[in-house]
Amino acid sequence: MKKIESTKLPSLEKLSLKDIEAGKKLFSKKLYFKLGIKNQKDLPQNDLPEVAFAGRSNVGKSSLINNLTFQKNIARVSKKPGSTQQINFFEIPEMLRIIDLPGYGFAKVSKSEKKEWNTLIEQYFLINSSLNRVFLLIDSRRGIKDSDINFMKNLEKFAIVFEVIVTKIDKLDYKNARNLVSEIERINSTFTTAFPRVILTSCINNNGLDKLRAEIFKLLN
Ligand code: GTP
Ligand code: MG
Repeated sequence: MKKIESTKLPSLEKLSLKDIEAGKKLFSKKLYFKLGIKNQKDLPQNDLPEVAFAGRSNVGKSSLINNLTFQKNIARVSKKPGSTQQINFFEIPEMLRIIDLPGYGFAKVSKSEKKEWNTLIEQYFLINSSLNRVFLLIDSRRGIKDSDINFMKNLEKFAIVFEVIVTKIDKLDYKNARNLVSEIERINSTFTTAFPRVILTSCINNNGLDKLRAEIFKLLN
């Protein structure tokens, strides 16, 4: 098991207009699908900075990657939960690798399959030294579930900094969105590796995508 070292959280700086522009420029570069893996022996060399998208099945991980990168169909999206069944690696050459993780908390996946995915994800966390941040997605209509808290505990165990991204914010009114953010902030404060920003996003009206691009740009600079 990886030795747990204390993690120093990067400081929370305001995302400036300059960062927003730089983020847009970064993501206007072409993203390529590199590979999808189901087995830890196929994990690629980590020679580029990486960010990973994680969260319950159907939370909108693949949709967010498509919209963030202005490439509508690069990651497979489905109404049915469990559509991403492997770790998918995408790359902006020589700059950044983006990882689409299989979703958790999906009842229809068999126990043995769930165990395999968890082991694969844990192996990835364990050996990957260039994983800069995990964006942990929470569906605005569903809120934080036990499976999310367990995932956060795992990330903390591996000393991985995570940042909560709320998805499908087009489905929530302002008051409920505020309440959800307060709850997330309370939960974040109980984890040593939770980055204290919460970005609200929508792939329907593109809310928050510019902020997320800027955040990723800042991670590389
Ligand atoms: P798995 O791969 O199964 O873990 O799912 P995922 O997290 O990759 O979710 P995916 O991107 O496949 O999206 C699941 C469903 O949510 C699809 O029907 C999307 O169209 C829908 N969806 C994604 N983002 C949004 C959003 O911002 N707003 C709304 N209203 N629906 C969204
Ligand atoms: Mg998916």
